[in-house]
Amino acid sequence: MRTQVCIVGGGPSGLLLAQLLHKHGIDTVILERRSRAYVLARIRAGVLERGLVDLMHEAGVAGRLEREGLVHEGAAIAAGEALFRIDFKALTGHTVVVYGQTEVTRDLYDARDATGGETRFEVEDVAICDADTDAPYVTFRQEGTDHRIDCDFVAGCDGFHGVSRQTIPDRVRQEFEKVYPFGWLGVLSQTPPVEDEIIYARSERGFALCSMRNAELSRYYVQCPLSDRAEDWSDAAFWDELRRRLPARVAERLVTGPSIEKSIAPLRSFVCEPMRWGRLFLCGDAAHIVPPTGAKGLNTAASDIHYLYEAMVRYYRDNDREALDGYSRRALARVWKTQRFSWWMTTLLHSFPEQSAFDLRLQAADLAFLRDSEAAQRALAENYVGLPY
Ligand code: FAD
Ligand code: DHB
Repeated sequence: MRTQVCIVGGGPSGLLLAQLLHKHGIDTVILERRSRAYVLARIRAGVLERGLVDLMHEAGVAGRLEREGLVHEGAAIAAGEALFRIDFKALTGHTVVVYGQTEVTRDLYDARDATGGETRFEVEDVAICDADTDAPYVTFRQEGTDHRIDCDFVAGCDGFHGVSRQTIPDRVRQEFEKVYPFGWLGVLSQTPPVEDEIIYARSERGFALCSMRNAELSRYYVQCPLSDRAEDWSDAAFWDELRRRLPARVAERLVTGPSIEKSIAPLRSFVCEPMRWGRLFLCGDAAHIVPPTGAKGLNTAASDIHYLYEAMVRYYRDNDREALDGYSRRALARVWKTQRFSWWMTTLLHSFPEQSAFDLRLQAADLAFLRDSEAAQRALAENYVGLPY
């Protein structure tokens, strides 16, 4: 089998790339390790930057996002009983859209179906071969049969645990990592959100986040020890803990109900350099991970896709390789800025096990500066709505 671009991974990165390339007549095959139902059931990110919203428009898949997405002009930061709002719209002229990653993925799969593009699910043993030559190919097994796809390029969109990154030899690859000593316990519940904007809360008991998917569906998180297991947290224990981390006037308005989903995610910062090796290009979580504070994971995957898709279009349309050669440098320049922002928001709002009295005073001063300084609020807002591509 032959295609122009073989895409390893059918998560949001791979699907968005496929759809954008299709708009320019570039042929792709997507290889996904899981079933479609499994990919669609994964509850993850919920906040879309303007750049991702624009890409969804460009890909022709923004219809439902436009109808159902919730435009947010600001978000709140709480600390103890205090609460202040950051007005993204007033500070930057831009907004974000609350629309679940599950919905983004569903819209992209529907569009993929409509184009008739080939997507192989439940593939095993994917191997990327000869990526450093002009004739790369990908091998895999499906339902007991071995297959080979010859291609011009391979897009490694297979997430943090995929094979693409490992294909870059150790002598070429550098990895930068910071692991945080806590996780986030997340709950999805069929209840009206406590507030119509997102609240990031710092408290002495640890961080909490109040978010949503729509007017009847809430998403909440609390910082928890990495040793905790989601199944050991009863719904009642979760709601109690969340309430204790919110200002009293917010907590008393919290509507609780049974959890639809409950899971724990570890927090990690990670970057792989370079993001390109020969004809293999890494995108999204395959190349980098951010802690979720600030909602940058999915959005940074989207900025990679923007750079790669533009570079591939220039290659096929104009026979111009310059943008492909510059992909890793361009993508990494933005990746490191979102790393800095996610690390900073995580450090600002979480309780750290080894935190000294000095560290706590610094955290309080950082928060007070943010509350009182328009410049500090603008810096947060500029990052939150998304740095330009
Ligand atoms: P993925 O979504 O990981 O997709 C990669 C795909 O590749 C998967 O479908 C996988 O099955 C497939 N794959 C893997 N290995 C192979 C292989 N060998 N062969 C073929 N296919 C393969 N971000 C936020 O902004 N906010 C959040 O609240 C948030 N919560 C998160 C919670 C969890 C538990 C995780 C893991 C991530 C979370 N993120 C969050 C990050 C965000 O979801 C990711 O940044 C985003 O999913 C990246 O998309 P991706 O397509 O690059 O990778
Ligand atoms: C959500 C997740 C985040 O990491 C964040 O910073 C804001 C919102 C969410 O799942 O809605």
